Amino acid sequence: MKIKKLLLIVLLSITFIFGMTSCKKQKQKLVVTTNAEFNPFEYVENGKITGFDIDLIRAYANKNDLELDIQDVDFDGALIAVSTGKSDLAIAGITVSEKRKETMSFSNSYYSADQVVIVKDGSKYENLNQDEILTQLSLDNAKIGCQRGTTGEYFIEGDEDWEFDGIKGAEVKSYDNGALAVTALSNGQIDAVIIDSAPARVLCKSIKNVKIVKDVLLTSEEYAIAVNKENTSLVESLNKFIFEAKEDGTLDAIVNKYFGTETEDVVIDDKSTFNKDNILSIFKGLGNTLIITFTAFLLGILLGVLVSLATNMQTKNKALLALKYLAKGYVMIFRGTPIIVQLLIIYYIVFKSFTGNAIWIGVLSFGLNSGAYVSEIVRGGIESVSAGQMEAGRSLGLNYHTVMKKIIFPQAIKNALPSLGNEFISLIKETSVIGFIGAFDLTLAFRKIANATYDYTSTYLLMGLLYFLLVLLFTCILKLIERRLNHDRIKGR
Ligand code: ARG
Repeated sequence: MKIKKLLLIVLLSITFIFGMTSCKKQKQKLVVTTNAEFNPFEYVENGKITGFDIDLIRAYANKNDLELDIQDVDFDGALIAVSTGKSDLAIAGITVSEKRKETMSFSNSYYSADQVVIVKDGSKYENLNQDEILTQLSLDNAKIGCQRGTTGEYFIEGDEDWEFDGIKGAEVKSYDNGALAVTALSNGQIDAVIIDSAPARVLCKSIKNVKIVKDVLLTSEEYAIAVNKENTSLVESLNKFIFEAKEDGTLDAIVNKYFGTETEDVVIDDKSTFNKDNILSIFKGLGNTLIITFTAFLLGILLGVLVSLATNMQTKNKALLALKYLAKGYVMIFRGTPIIVQLLIIYYIVFKSFTGNAIWIGVLSFGLNSGAYVSEIVRGGIESVSAGQMEAGRSLGLNYHTVMKKIIFPQAIKNALPSLGNEFISLIKETSVIGFIGAFDLTLAFRKIANATYDYTSTYLLMGLLYFLLVLLFTCILKLIERRLNHDRIKGR
């Protein structure tokens, strides 16, 4: 009786607390995508996304009493998100162009920019003027770097909609972000980089042996906020805000904060690669990688077992037959396409309106992918149990399903254990592509540190080492489990 009363009190208080919290007026949420690898417009500092654009959109949110959900993804991803409606808007130093207007709307411009050329110190391109440098790069069939999906890329390749002729003969080298392109330049792997002017200045201050070619301004472009096409009221409200921000000094204050009043701008402090914030973010990434791997693996096992049962079914029932072929189709599709493709389709198309943590979409994708492989592993396990056992079971008068369940399946799983262990180990490594949909895992944690500190050597090496140790650890654990099972088997005989 007492317990019942207690339970009732607990339940009532929980309802009360929930009731209270939901009474509090919830602010409307604005989902914003960006690519925080474009200092000074957006970048990560001490684990937080900051920059010109972020200040601007925060000012907008404050003024309109909105709650911001800022998602940091690839530049491509930021644009796709806004055109598919996954985010309400993208702010990422995005240049307005007719081509982009086909899939998204733009606010009025808030900043004007140009593309510039970065070359190595002392390079033969260093003192050329605009026409000369373009001709020379073309004659040399130069390798020119840029960030994927940006104006720089269109400029080098040439694009009718953007009215760029392209640099004939040049080879485009597209990187995930500008810092990687400039690092490749500094290493001597490419001949030049074409990128927006303000980020170019930051990069040249932070990366050794590179400089901007003087007085070469290849384009003149306007940055604006990209908005989902259907959301005309948001465009209007942003335009109103931009207009007011220009009038009341908000925009000037942001410009001064990031560029100073002079053109000599942006102070870059010396950041150490593995400071406290960065180490914390590595742990967070590690935790996420483990969560993703474990949950996806469990989901994969569940799916794999069910699917292998379905594909091995012997039935004439139409509905069950349909299920069997559905299961076979699933295995074919998930084994027949790359995991990154599956991840992108599931995130951007199937769960187009999902705005929560991308990790869960990742878990689902890896679970589905792994399920297809696990089902094959289980099938192999079933086939490894000798056919005589089925016959023996049947001749004892048991039906097919009972023999399967009671005799074949338990042995099949045991035989399949080593391969299941391997599947787990592969998953640890495979999940490293989850950053493609912006989910924060171990790889993304390191990539972000590298892009913020430009210290690619130590970050990439440590990242490799950590994965190696992780795999080593789990290989040992699996070996122990296997040995244990074999031991039990021998004892059981
Ligand atoms: N302004 C260029 C464009 O729109 C580059 C923008 C890149 N922005 C970024 N956050 N990475 O194509």
